[in-house]
Order: sequence, then structure tokens, then C-alpha cells
Amino acid sequence: MHRIRVWDLPIRLFHWALVGAVALSYYTMKTPGAPFVFPVEIHARAGLVVLGLLLFRWGWALAGSRHARVWHFLYRPRAMLNYLRSLRRGSLPPYAGHNPLGGLAVLVMLVSLSVQALSGLFLSDDIFFQAPLYDRVAAGTSDALRTLHHWNGQLLIVLIGLHLVALLFHRLKGERLVGAMVHGTKRLDARPLDVADESPVRDAARPGRAAALMLVAVAAVAWLWRL
Ligand code: HEM
Ligand code: HEM
Repeated sequence: MHRIRVWDLPIRLFHWALVGAVALSYYTMKTPGAPFVFPVEIHARAGLVVLGLLLFRWGWALAGSRHARVWHFLYRPRAMLNYLRSLRRGSLPPYAGHNPLGGLAVLVMLVSLSVQALSGLFLSDDIFFQAPLYDRVAAGTSDALRTLHHWNGQLLIVLIGLHLVALLFHRLKGERLVGAMVHGTKRLDARPLDVADESPVRDAARPGRAAALMLVAVAAVAWLWRL
């Protein structure tokens, strides 16, 4: 049995906070009226939290620990095809971090989430609410971004659905990914293909960077919040 520290604390905090803030963003928009009536402000504030989390995550994708870095989990198309072929043969190649398909899916999800949060900054509901940067663009641009916000919001629901189906698939194949996103350690029967030396993830070695990135994200969100 191979036990590998895979998700550092910042990634785990990021993930579960993201789940909460995205859920609130949808809840406040998709369920008008029941059981509570939310003003658009609450939706926008949840969206701003999503934006702050993503700012942090993009920084961490460049400067974080091994499995958090985008160059570590973004594979060549050939590796993705090989992974797909293995799945079709019924085997599940062992990976500590995101596997080649999962890495692509995560990247697409992070981009789509970013488009959603950024486009929201320029919207208005045409009644009471104007987002922080609404008056910085022409009315036509804001309308186009509203269409983008709507359709990308639908796409995100599909991506999140696929994310959950993929997790279920791995669970049925005996791989417990959810636990690893809670406590950080993944258990694999075989040696993972993406870890050459099995040295531990050095999350403790980068608390300064994590804190600096968090500070930048909080400052950006606080600035937008007050606009
Ligand atoms: C990732 C975070 C976000 C998600 C998942 C999200 C999702 C949504 C959804 C599903 C709608 C309904 C659109 C429709 O179906 O027509 C909506 C509308 C809206 N969102 Fe967001 N949103 C996010 C971030 C933001 C942010 C950051 C702001 C502003 C700061 C914002 C402002 C608005 C406004 C003003 C509307 C109403 C637009 C209208 O009345 O047509 N959103 N959002
Ligand atoms: C709003 C819903 C969700 C969103 C937007 C979301 C988003 C994400 C993102 C962006 C990642 C990549 C993490 C990173 O490297 O930064 C991820 C990974 C992960 N998520 Fe979610 N997630 C959602 C719901 C859930 C739920 C409900 C669960 C558990 C039941 C879950 C479990 C996981 C796990 C286990 C991973 C790691 C996958 C792996 O090992 O490759 N997610 N999620």
C-alpha cells in the first residue's frame, strides 16, 4: 500500500470553501423565494468570495506544492489518450495528483469558474443592483457579459455534474478520492505514475507564499466589495 501526502492544506481549504461559495451563488440565483428570499447582493458577495478563492488558486497553481501546480497536472494529449485507452480496457492507472483526464477537467472547471466570477463584476439586474464594475463598461458590453454569465453558468452545472460522476466512478473502482481531499493523504495499491521519488509534499515549506497569496486575494475582494 502506498500512502502519499497529496493535497496540501491550502488546496483543501480552497476546495471546500469553493464548494460552499459556488453552492450559495447558485442557490441565491436559482431558487427565487423559497425558503429565504435573497437579494442579488448576497449572490454577488458569494461570487466575490469565489473570485477571491480563484485568485488564490491561480497563484497557487504557479507557486504551490507539487500536485497543486498546473504544469504538474496538465499532461500532453498523448498521455490523455493513453489514459482513456486504459479506462476502456477496464484498468485505472494509479496517479497521486490529478490524472491526465482529471487534470484537464480541473483546468476547464477553474477557467469556467473564473469566467463566471469575472463576468459577474460587470452586471446589473436592471432594477436595484449594479455590480462593482458595471459602470466601467458600455451597456452593450454588460449585456453581452450577462449572456456569457447565463450560458457559462449552465456549462458550469454540467462540469460540476461530470466532476461528481467521475468521483463516483473512481469510488466504484476502489479509489477513495474524497477522503484525500479531506485529510490530504491518498492510499494507492500500486506506485503512482506521477511521483518518481515519493518524497512528501512540502506544504509546510511554503506557508509564507500561501499567506502572501491569500493576502493579495483578500485585498482584491475587499476592494471590489467596497466599490
Ligand atoms: C462563480 C460565481 C458565480 C456563479 C456560479 C453565478 C451564477 C449566476 C447565475 C446562475 C445567474 C442567473 C443567470 C441566468 O440564468 O440568467 C446569475 C445572475 C447574476 N449574477 Fe452571478 N454568478 C457568480 C458570480 C457573480 C458575481 C461575482 C457577481 C457580481 C459581483 C454576479 C452578479 C450577478 C447578477 C447581477 C446577476 C443577475 C443578472 C440578471 O438580472 O440578468 N454573479 N449568476
Ligand atoms: C460546487 C461544487 C464543486 C466544485 C466547483 C468543485 C471544484 C473542484 C476543483 C476546482 C477541483 C480541483 C482542485 C484543485 O486542484 O484545485 C476539485 C477536486 C476535487 N473535488 Fe471538487 N468541486 C465541487 C464539489 C465537490 C464535492 C461535492 C466533492 C465530494 C463529494 C468533491 C470532491 C473533490 C475531490 C475528491 C477532488 C480531487 C480529485 C482528484 O483526486 O483528482 N468536489 N473540485
